[in-house]
Amino acid sequence: MNSEHTQSPCETLSHMIQGYKNSQLVYLAAKLGVADLLAAGPKSADEIVISTGTNAQALCRIMNGFVWCGLVIQREDKLFELTSLGECLRSDASDSLKDEALFTGEILGPAWSAIHNTVKTGITGFDHFFGMGIFQYLTEHPEIGESFNKVMVKCTAAMSESVLAVYDFSPYREVVDVGGGFGALLTSILKKHPGIHGVLFDISSVIQGAKDRLEKEGLLNRCTIVAGDFFNSVPQGGDLYILKSIIHDWDEADCLRILKNCHKAMGTRGKILLVEWIMPEIVDNATNGVNLDLTMLMVSGGQERTEREYRALFDSAGFQLNRIIPTPSGKSLLEGIPKT
Ligand SMILES: C[S@@+](CC[C@H](N)C(=O)[O-])C[C@H]1O[C@@H](n2cnc3c(N)ncnc32)[C@H](O)[C@@H]1O
Repeated sequence: MNSEHTQSPCETLSHMIQGYKNSQLVYLAAKLGVADLLAAGPKSADEIVISTGTNAQALCRIMNGFVWCGLVIQREDKLFELTSLGECLRSDASDSLKDEALFTGEILGPAWSAIHNTVKTGITGFDHFFGMGIFQYLTEHPEIGESFNKVMVKCTAAMSESVLAVYDFSPYREVVDVGGGFGALLTSILKKHPGIHGVLFDISSVIQGAKDRLEKEGLLNRCTIVAGDFFNSVPQGGDLYILKSIIHDWDEADCLRILKNCHKAMGTRGKILLVEWIMPEIVDNATNGVNLDLTMLMVSGGQERTEREYRALFDSAGFQLNRIIPTPSGKSLLEGIPKT
């Protein structure tokens, strides 16, 4: 922000109101692959029209929009060149935001647009807009499903170290990652602990991506990959069941089904470990969990929970909540053991 000019409350609010335009432009740049196109060097609007199969007149004006929001500049020779901001949308950027932009534009945006209906009815914006649950939709639309899983890998890989820093996995032999996605957390655990065997469990549409990723990491020989539905059952025989960002996706009845299936699978000596935000009883504008809680309200029908709510959930599912361990990432680990 310009330090010489302090925004008035109305200016700040106006920026908030208009913010959707930036989000839509970034989404469109990702969808058209503009950053990948310009990665090799500056290009004219005509070249971009041909490569993207777009309407010439509309594309020219949209390119001006990309200039306006800072993704590209237009040079004296009229060619468009990527800025450092635009570079972040390249598929091959080390910290690429392309999948996040795609997922936000295609899933979160439409879901959030039904926010008024959600507050009136309690029905997620996603279900209202798309007429089905999010995970069914991602299965039926594998391209955006792949983007979602890659976004999860990026978020989870970024915080895995903070889990490993505060939790000792070394006593365990068989770690089951329930709803493990493409296996970002399990990868970090297996790399740090060569004595552990992993089981990655997720729905069948996610399994191939998980296999590819674990193979690339050289871990396929230490990890069994299992397709299934955690509402029916989860793989048996693990001594630790990890559920990262799973329980927050679901309402109480669904959480209980998942947790009880873990309980059944682990026998009496196993443990369960959730990785979730813990909501404070009273929030303020620095409470990070609110952002994700609203996303759960709008997208999956789940919620971020308070410690009290987690204790009740564990208790109803037959677990004793043993320990809550904060991690430097802001999320916490909730460790449970079967109640005797
Ligand atoms: C929010 S993602 C979390 C992924 C991973 N644990 C992480 O944190 O990176 C939720 C995961 O639950 C999986 N999932 C959803 N419904 C499922 C079901 N019925 N059975 C098994 N996995 C499911 C999804 O495919 C997805 O990988």
